[in-house]
Amino acid sequence: MSILVTGGAGYIGSHTVVELLNIGQEVIIIDNFSNSKPEVLDSIRKITGKDFKFYEINYLNREALEKIFEENKDIESVINFAGFKAVGESVEKPIEYYTNNISGALVLLDTMRKYGVKKFVFSSSATVYGNPERIPLTEDCRIGGTTNPYGTTKLYIEQILKDIYKSDNSWDIAILRYFNPVGAHESGLIGEEPKGIPNNLMPYIVRVAAGMLKELSVYGNDYDTPDGTGVRDYIHVVDLAKGHIKAIEKLNKEKHGLFIYNLGTGVGYSVLDMVKAFEKVTGKQVPYKIAPRREGDIATCYSDPTKAKNELDWVATKTLEDMCKDSWKFIQNRM
Ligand code: WQD
Repeated sequence: MSILVTGGAGYIGSHTVVELLNIGQEVIIIDNFSNSKPEVLDSIRKITGKDFKFYEINYLNREALEKIFEENKDIESVINFAGFKAVGESVEKPIEYYTNNISGALVLLDTMRKYGVKKFVFSSSATVYGNPERIPLTEDCRIGGTTNPYGTTKLYIEQILKDIYKSDNSWDIAILRYFNPVGAHESGLIGEEPKGIPNNLMPYIVRVAAGMLKELSVYGNDYDTPDGTGVRDYIHVVDLAKGHIKAIEKLNKEKHGLFIYNLGTGVGYSVLDMVKAFEKVTGKQVPYKIAPRREGDIATCYSDPTKAKNELDWVATKTLEDMCKDSWKFIQNRM
């Protein structure tokens, strides 16, 4: 039986494919390289010593998607990583974001239904909690109040999945709410490669340390947090990838259902904690300046990951040092 992975050449997708291949799972990847590169596929083969089927298509292309299900009657479940993910860009291009993320998910789900495939794992985000009702965030906290179209696509797709399950409870759906994914595979062969100047903290820190960018702007040091800078739940991408394996196992053994899990460490680190940890692990300086707060940012966001521990037997095991070390190794390989 195969698992279809959309966006399997992307950051979290590629790490998840590695973990799937490592446990001997047959994998079919689709990707249109809109935010990834074909070389990633070779790196996955190199890391695992295993092969997979690959189709270069856009998941909005219903005809091409149907052909894949037609050709691969053994597809048992789908993990959906396809989607645009840049918060700032989504504000500039809402039509592109809603079309790609929401219409794409609908085409995929409709095709799955047509071929009787009803196990689905969806990449959601802590961003669906908007301004957190309480910290740490549990899965039953209020959702909504997203501040950008990217976040709203995650919120809407969660609602679509809930409605689909309500209409037909023979689906098995796992919604995984990621906190702040960072790090790279320990081989240094795959990792995060944002196009242009990065918006997220870790890719920015790494480029400053590498001398590719001059200094980090720390967005605000007057938040109500221990050192005044924003606090987040950074999670190593390999831990995150392993969470998907556990989610698939859960869907395979449960009767049927829709399950929602936070994937985070449960620990919050500030921007300055990240800078210091990175400097300590790599021995590199990360020059920074304090800048005004970034619009839409919140002070503190971290998870309560207890539900995933109890129900999936999943916990994040990698440390902040691992996150820094592996991010650094990946960028050095690219320089
Ligand atoms: C982390 C902290 C910043 C950059 C976003 C999305 C979310 C998710 C992950 C993705 C904050 C501070 C950052 C910089 C800084 N999704 N910072 N200087 O905003 O928590 O989450 O990415 O696909 O949906 O909203 O992550 O890494 O941008 O910021 O001071 O140059 O670092 O203010 O406190 P965020 P981030």
